Amino acid sequence: TTITPYANEPFTDFSLEENRKAMEAAIAKVKSELGRTHPLHIGTEKIVTEAKITSINPGNVDEVIGYVSKADQALAEKAMNVALETFESWKKVPARERAEYLFKAAKLMRERKHEFSATMILESGKNYVEADVDTAEAIDFMEFYAREIIRLGRINETQPLAKIPGEDNNISYIPLGVGVIIPPWNFPLAICVGMTTAAVVSGNTVLLKPASTTPVIAHKFVSLMEEVGLPAGVINFIPGSGAEVGDYLTTHPKTRFISFTGSKEVGLRINRLAAETAPGQIWIKRVVAEMGGKDGIVVDETADLDAAAQGIVASAFGFQGQKCSAGSRAFIVESVYDEVVAKVEKLVQGLKVGLPEQNFAAGPVIDKTSYEKILEYIEIGKGEGRLLAGGGKAEGNGYYIQPTVFVDVPGKARIMQEEIFGPVLAIGKAKDYQEAIALYNDTEFGLTGSFYSTNEERIAEALDTMHCGNLYVNRKCTGALVGVHPFGGFNMSGTDSKAGGYDYLLLFTQAKLTSRKL
Ligand code: NAD
Ligand code: ALA
Repeated sequence: TTITPYANEPFTDFSLEENRKAMEAAIAKVKSELGRTHPLHIGTEKIVTEAKITSINPGNVDEVIGYVSKADQALAEKAMNVALETFESWKKVPARERAEYLFKAAKLMRERKHEFSATMILESGKNYVEADVDTAEAIDFMEFYAREIIRLGRINETQPLAKIPGEDNNISYIPLGVGVIIPPWNFPLAICVGMTTAAVVSGNTVLLKPASTTPVIAHKFVSLMEEVGLPAGVINFIPGSGAEVGDYLTTHPKTRFISFTGSKEVGLRINRLAAETAPGQIWIKRVVAEMGGKDGIVVDETADLDAAAQGIVASAFGFQGQKCSAGSRAFIVESVYDEVVAKVEKLVQGLKVGLPEQNFAAGPVIDKTSYEKILEYIEIGKGEGRLLAGGGKAEGNGYYIQPTVFVDVPGKARIMQEEIFGPVLAIGKAKDYQEAIALYNDTEFGLTGSFYSTNEERIAEALDTMHCGNLYVNRKCTGALVGVHPFGGFNMSGTDSKAGGYDYLLLFTQAKLTSRKL
């Protein structure tokens, strides 16, 4: 069969009644299936453990999404042995055949798109658009990486080595071994699917430890891979405590690589632990660590101020600011400062907070720990800037917080420097665009940024000087598309792996050169 060129999965238009109805039906279906128990998958075995993770709806905390079995170190060890054994056969499966599993899974996920999205609406608190975008991105990752492994297989044609007489030289990308995949909860489908399938399509076998707040959607993905016939033992599903199972596998001598996306603190810990060599270990573990952000938007006085205000609000408050790409800071040039602030205030007042399944613009944050941490930052903010909007908890039987904006915040304020990961925006004033860019760059992170201006010279300067992995002009700083905007950040934002880009699969492979005398 021929493979069509890669194209992004279209988003659903929820302004159409039929699409809203379809999502409501999917939510009803998922609701009728809540509260089930989900097993670990280790090779061919489905193991239900005594200890369980209870996954709840953050927007309605009395609603249990599911009970998910929990691995301990002994079960993690069992999974490691199965993954090691399965690697011996999986690595020999031709790349084209491995890619087929991803194509099939993408097709099935597309057919059941709303059901996957509905699960995220209930388990993670996304509204319709945010959930739909997450599912579309998961489909994109599978379609993209499947094509990528096929492309890498043709590297000797597409990127030929220099020729010398009397020799035939070839390069091939072979898999690494057993990888540990540790995704975050905030793109509970897309990032979990992207990280897992990239490793697997490259010929590795994996131990997938999903985030503890969103294990049900992760299990739904693992079940889908089983349904398309992916051999048992290629993806082993082992939810569990990050500290217990995570540390055990990070330090395990047979772990070949760790693919992590999450906070700076955990990423740095994994990087440090993985650098030690355990007895019997015969390689340097490869660590891919995509971490936090303190992303921001710069607006100069020539910008389209309505577009800038809309970009600021969408970037700061989409999914309650719980994106690594969230624009939690904005720096605005003095002469248009008050005007932009007024526009932002108006837009934020239009963000109604409520139940995700009723598709409110703003929903809950993920859990109690986050909720308390964000409210604490809001109190800190009250001492660092002037409160413009929000400022505390919101009504509802869940972790609801008002979209909150602080203005006149100095660049060194904690709410300007620390990742809050919630619906809190800090706005600062700059005397000119250059000072605004300097304020933007004054961070240990470097994931996304936007520059709003109509001045070509300044745009060129901003493109050059704003230091981040994903830099946008005259658009919001969230919403990177697979294959279009390869994604990853600088400095404490991580290893800049560029998920959804042409460099990504190289991280899960090693290049082997063969040279034959003719
Ligand atoms: P987190 O670091 O708390 O958890 C991430 C994962 O690590 C979870 O699966 C968790 O169980 C696991 N974990 C915890 N302790 C561990 C340990 N000692 N060893 C191994 N694994 C362990 O992050 P989170 O709250 O799930 O996600 C939010 C964070 O992720 C934010 O900082 C956000 O910016 C970041 N993020 C980054 C990107 C990116 O591409 N750069 C994308 C999404 C999210
Ligand atoms: N890829 C996601 C975004 O760009 C994180 O918003």
